[in-house]
Order: sequence, then structure tokens, then C-alpha cells
Amino acid sequence: MKIPLLDLKAQYQTIRDEIKEAVDEVLESQHFILGPKVEALEEAVAPYCGCQCAVGVSSGTDGLLIALMAARIGYGHGVITTPFTFFATGGSIVRAFSRPFFVDIDPATYNVDPGAIKAFVEAECRFESGAGRLVHGESGVSIRAIMPVHLYGQCADMDGILEIANEYGLVVVEDGAQAIGAEYPSIHKEVPLRAGSMGHFGCFSFFPSKNLGGFGDGGMVTPRIWEASAMAAW
Ligand SMILES: Cc1ncc(COP(=O)(O)O)c(C=O)c1O
Repeated sequence: MKIPLLDLKAQYQTIRDEIKEAVDEVLESQHFILGPKVEALEEAVAPYCGCQCAVGVSSGTDGLLIALMAARIGYGHGVITTPFTFFATGGSIVRAFSRPFFVDIDPATYNVDPGAIKAFVEAECRFESGAGRLVHGESGVSIRAIMPVHLYGQCADMDGILEIANEYGLVVVEDGAQAIGAEYPSIHKEVPLRAGSMGHFGCFSFFPSKNLGGFGDGGMVTPRIWEASAMAAW
């Protein structure tokens, strides 16, 4: 017996009429790129994720790249991340001309371990407090960001990650490609926080096999700091 990697036919049967109507509306409106449907999705995703705003993009991969570019992360910079993820996490860092630094995962959750991030920073990096720069000792690369990934319906340990990011002035880009709607019980908040609302940027994928799958490639970025003045500071 062959089990297909992805087969949404059974689900499609239950929402077939709704989907056909929505596709017809797009065809009639001739808004094939962006337009009111994308705006409506952005306006629905932002509050659902507990974010100020959401911006539709062409894929989860491009969302990660756009977040890094918006944070001015590029050549000579480094991003701490996890090796236990889909290729696009490390791939987006390299596409931004920067270097991924892989640290280990927590064996209980399979998400990046803040203890391992701290150990990497303390053992292999130095903090230049005057310039506010975290520098990787061996390569001289300036570490600018942490990119945690949320897997299996549970967020990475964001309290621990944000504490390290705050200590060293690092940007946090959450790879929530597999985690839209996942909740994180922060020790600092009474109500759980949603994936994508805790770092400076959240990134989601609507690849058809994802939790919220689309009709082709698609993604969303939820920037927490998006005012031009804040960007200029980076
Ligand atoms: C953890 C993770 N990050 C990034 C991506 C990239 O998303 P996309 O396929 O929409 O480019 C995916 C999924 O493919 C993923 O699982």
C-alpha cells in the first residue's frame, strides 16, 4: 500500500463549494497579486497571532529572508539557529549572505535549547560592550540574531531565548513555518503568547502541507518592530 506524502482530497470534499466560490471571486476581480483577499488574510492573521500587523509574502522561506533583510543582517553577520529543522531555516540565513551558527536542541522538545545558545555564546564569542557587538571569536563574524524554530505544536523556550537576545542586543526571528496558532506559556505573562508574536519578527508558511495550507506557495511575516526609526537603529 502506498501512502502519499500529502493528500488533502478528503478535507477538500468538505469545503469544496466554499473554495470554488472564493477562487471564482478572485478570477472575477482579476486581483491575482495582492489585492483585497490578501489584505483580508493579513487582517485576520495579525490578531489571531497576537501581532500588530501581518504582511503576506510569497513563501515561508522568503518571509525568513525578508525579516533578515529588514533587520539589515547580511555579509559578515551571523545568526544562531537550530540544525533540527527544514532546510529553509539555515538556507535563508545563507541567502542573506550571512552565516548560520548551529547550536543543539533540547531533547525533550526537539526545539533549540537556550542553555546551548548561552553555552555557545560564553565559550565561543566575546561581547564588545562599547560597540554593543557579539563577536564569534574564531571567525570574527558579528552575531546579530537568533532564529528559533517552533516544531510539533510547541514553541521553543522563548523566555530563555529572549533573555539572551536582550542581554546581547540580538534580533529574534521566529521561524513559525510549522506553528501558526501554537501557544507559549511565558512566565512573564498571565495568558499564553502565540508563535510569531514574541520575537522582532514571526514568519509563517502556507505551503500546502502546513498547519494552514494554501493553494500553492505562500507565507506571512509578523514584524513586531516595523517603524522606520527602529529599523534605522539596526
Ligand atoms: C521550519 C520551516 N521553516 C521554513 C519553511 C519554509 O517554508 P516554505 O516552504 O513556505 O518556503 C518550512 C517549510 O517548508 C519549514 O518547515
